[in-house]
Amino acid sequence: MSESTGSEGRRFPAPEQLAASANVGPDVYEQAEADRLAFWETAARRLDWSREWDEVLDWTNPPFAKWFVGGKLNVAYNCLDRHVEAGHGDQVAYHWEGEPGDTRTITYAQLTEEVCKAANALVELGVNAGDRVAIYMPMIPETVIAMLACARIGAVHMVVFGGFSADALASRLDDSGAVLVITSDGGYRRGAPSALKPAVDDAVGRSPGVRNVVVVRRTEQDVEWTEGRDLWWHDVVDRQSPQHTPEAFDAEHPLYIMYTSGTTAKPKGILHTSGGYLTQVAYTHWATFDLKPDTDVYWTAADVGWVTGHSYIVYGPLANRATSVMYEGTPETPHRGRWFELIEKYRVSILYTAPTVIRTFMKWGEDIPAGFDLSSLRLLGSVGEPINPEAWLWYHRNIGGERCPIVDTWWQTETGAHMITPLPGVTSLVPGSAQHPFPGISARVVDDEGNELTNDSTGLLVLTEPWPAMLRTIWGDDDRYVDTYWSRFGKNVYFAGDGAKKDADGNIWLLGRVDDVMNVSGHRISTTEVESSLVGHPTVAEAAVVGASDPTTGQGIVAFVILRGNAEDSGEELVQTLRNHVARDIGPIAKPRQIMVVQELPKTRSGKIMRRLLRDIAENRELGDVTTLTDSSVMNLIKDKLPAAS
Ligand code: WT7
Repeated sequence: MSESTGSEGRRFPAPEQLAASANVGPDVYEQAEADRLAFWETAARRLDWSREWDEVLDWTNPPFAKWFVGGKLNVAYNCLDRHVEAGHGDQVAYHWEGEPGDTRTITYAQLTEEVCKAANALVELGVNAGDRVAIYMPMIPETVIAMLACARIGAVHMVVFGGFSADALASRLDDSGAVLVITSDGGYRRGAPSALKPAVDDAVGRSPGVRNVVVVRRTEQDVEWTEGRDLWWHDVVDRQSPQHTPEAFDAEHPLYIMYTSGTTAKPKGILHTSGGYLTQVAYTHWATFDLKPDTDVYWTAADVGWVTGHSYIVYGPLANRATSVMYEGTPETPHRGRWFELIEKYRVSILYTAPTVIRTFMKWGEDIPAGFDLSSLRLLGSVGEPINPEAWLWYHRNIGGERCPIVDTWWQTETGAHMITPLPGVTSLVPGSAQHPFPGISARVVDDEGNELTNDSTGLLVLTEPWPAMLRTIWGDDDRYVDTYWSRFGKNVYFAGDGAKKDADGNIWLLGRVDDVMNVSGHRISTTEVESSLVGHPTVAEAAVVGASDPTTGQGIVAFVILRGNAEDSGEELVQTLRNHVARDIGPIAKPRQIMVVQELPKTRSGKIMRRLLRDIAENRELGDVTTLTDSSVMNLIKDKLPAAS
């Protein structure tokens, strides 16, 4: 058995009380099995539609799906007004906490008013249904308000994570054709204000399609101002009417675009639409987390700038009338117990986070969580990469007090919502495995020919039926959508890009990406994107990048570069220059952990770089098979350059 499946065969059955009280029981699997479309139809009825659909799924033109055909709804109305109308206006939607310790409590009634005002402001600025609006923000309430304001008027939001560079923002503005950018002066990170507006100024300067930039005041940093283009949020939003009549949009009306790394240097704009997305996001949030809106305090500790934030900070929780915690900053500011302090303060009952964070907490030591009252927690979740059994068990013991089930949820930006996960009141948990397809989802492990594999053979994960929250296309590039996801095994089978295996008990184990995409701290970064940034530097002739396993971040970025003839190898200084160059190009998350200057790269006779061998080196392993190399002495040359193995 591989290390990732070595959970000593331990099983954690659903606690009896939870099994009795959970939102869903074992029968959901049977219902979905008996009639998959009827199952999703029932899930869709948890929402408020202004026109019922005529057909649940139109799959006559695969892989282009239409869900809830003919149905009409307003996503923001479903997240806000309907709860207020039902008498829950005073319920807290968000307990927001800024990194410096400032707080805001926002009820459903207040959030509805703020969203209406922002929607009116967007209309005043000439934003129409279908227009793209970029949001480049820290983790503040206005980020959520801006997203919902777009949804309310049918504009398509395109949130760019605040950690991305001006270049990354510029290419996304261009590709999406954004007409407006919503940003802030900055946000707080690691105890200091971190500016956002300069990157927007840089990016918008290159994007003639952007008419206005709306700026939220958060840090009060000085900002450059372009008259006629830039507007303060408080000037345009605050004076608006808190009333706005939501228009119902088609179920397939675009809701948002979220860019994610693929195997080429150009990120893919993943398009999500309205009815199916909200249906699956709301239903999974309710079932996977057993959300009880009257009593739970729910916290997805992730950034709104990623799909996890879209689906499980914003749309799922709000559609379910959850009370959520939202935190602006980093876990170690001002001290390493900050998250636990927040759990204690707000009596958080459900916590959803990533394995990389758990491993960081492990490194800091169990004394830190032990110093806080975490007894309010009843359920834990994990997402972003496989959670190794050791981290699972640590999370279970030191944060969950050995009483909280952990749901390990596998999904992707493209899938929009949970796809493979245990159900907390049903599944007997197996640490390290995401276990079973969600009811109504068909996932399989197959070999290269598409034959199903069971009994622990390693293969590829595929999804064999369309699902409501699936991506509809890659923005502006239907061909790439078909090629990337729906061509390896034909137009009816979605290729996820993950390796997987299914054990004899039917548990699915995710084994990481099989393409040239790295997973660093749960964030997807393409090797090609980092390579093309490196060769963009005047000193670099050629670059090869691999993801090497890293005890904390899952994978770390390791780059091998060949310098240009006239470039001088100044050692550590050059390495720092190149690391900073990549951070500036793509964003700090893409900064290589290690850069090695080499004379040659190992290549096959057809000229393909053998990353497998570079990965062996980066992970300090014995070299694998080198016989297909043009020149096997290349590897010795590279090894000679290595720092002594640590
Ligand atoms: C990739 C998707 C889903 C939101 C966060 C990341 C990996 C995600 C798990 C999990 C094993 C996981 C996969 C997937 N992944 N969750 N529970 N177990 N692997 O979204 O950036 O679209 O990345 O993250 O490799 O393909 P994303």
